[in-house]
Amino acid sequence: MKKIRIGIVGCGAIGKSLAKFIDRELNSKAEISAICDLDLSKTVSFKKILKKSKPVVTNLDKLIKNSDLIIESSSAKVSYEVAKKSVSNGKSILIMSIGGIILKAEELFALARKNRSFIYLPSGAICGIDGMKALSLAGIEKVTLTTRKPPKALSGVAYLMQKGIDVNKIKKETVIFEGTALSAIKYFPQNINVAALLSISGIGAKKTKVKIITSPEYKYNYHEIEIVSKAGVLKTISQNVAFKENPKTSYLAALSAMAVLKGIFDSAKIGN
Ligand SMILES: NC(=O)c1ccc[n+]([C@@H]2O[C@H](COP(=O)([O-])OP(=O)(O)OC[C@H]3O[C@@H](n4cnc5c(N)ncnc54)[C@H](O)[C@@H]3O)[C@@H](O)[C@H]2O)c1
Repeated sequence: MKKIRIGIVGCGAIGKSLAKFIDRELNSKAEISAICDLDLSKTVSFKKILKKSKPVVTNLDKLIKNSDLIIESSSAKVSYEVAKKSVSNGKSILIMSIGGIILKAEELFALARKNRSFIYLPSGAICGIDGMKALSLAGIEKVTLTTRKPPKALSGVAYLMQKGIDVNKIKKETVIFEGTALSAIKYFPQNINVAALLSISGIGAKKTKVKIITSPEYKYNYHEIEIVSKAGVLKTISQNVAFKENPKTSYLAALSAMAVLKGIFDSAKIGN
């Protein structure tokens, strides 16, 4: 059987971990055919971790041409362009920088349908997207994301500095933001993928509510989701360990993308 050719755009922490997973766990069905990165030195160290695949280092257009499935693991600044080029050429894409497509997701989904390609958006650092998809068939009334992070995970956020909030001086549990997902994405780019995925899979970025809380007592990042629908109420909490390759990312986010890749090749489709 011909192997699925996978092209990876962005050879950083996530790109590398997914490449390693494909190379070790999916090598009978898939190979990494091409890679690209703005920083060429990243592609050199990237190739060294692979045992089976021998990808070519190339530009975006050639990468898309020489791949069946593209993994975007680069930046929200380019994820829309990478996705649009991929699905316009009938290629499927797994998008990690979901924040970059938040306002154009429906356009991309329509283009993918027209060109018979697939767009994969992993659940990332949150749980409950399966429930959201099922409940949305009955009608969703309200979606709330409550993110709890230790102060150090929020230091350097421009929005907080402008408001005169020094997170390192906070002594007790404090709500530092409450608003729509659209505003949260603007002011807290670190949370961009979680809020974006929740919005895209549910009731949109203007209606999804986000609350961000910090406390010196918090040791992990926590994402709590509440979905209210005609068919019932769903609540989930994920307590996330940092990904050792990039402490700004949750380990669960990398694992969730691996699970999506595994699912593409599995015959058994578990969950919705
Ligand atoms: N969906 C999720 O749950 C989730 C979780 C973690 C990270 N992410 C997103 O995935 C992306 C990658 O995360 P990471 O932790 O690997 O970051 P990283 O900084 O370790 O790696 C990003 C890599 O992409 C490269 N890059 C940037 N712009 C590029 C471009 N235009 N073309 C080609 N390469 C480019 C950089 O040089 C770098 O090597 C980020 O956008 C991040 O927000 C999403």
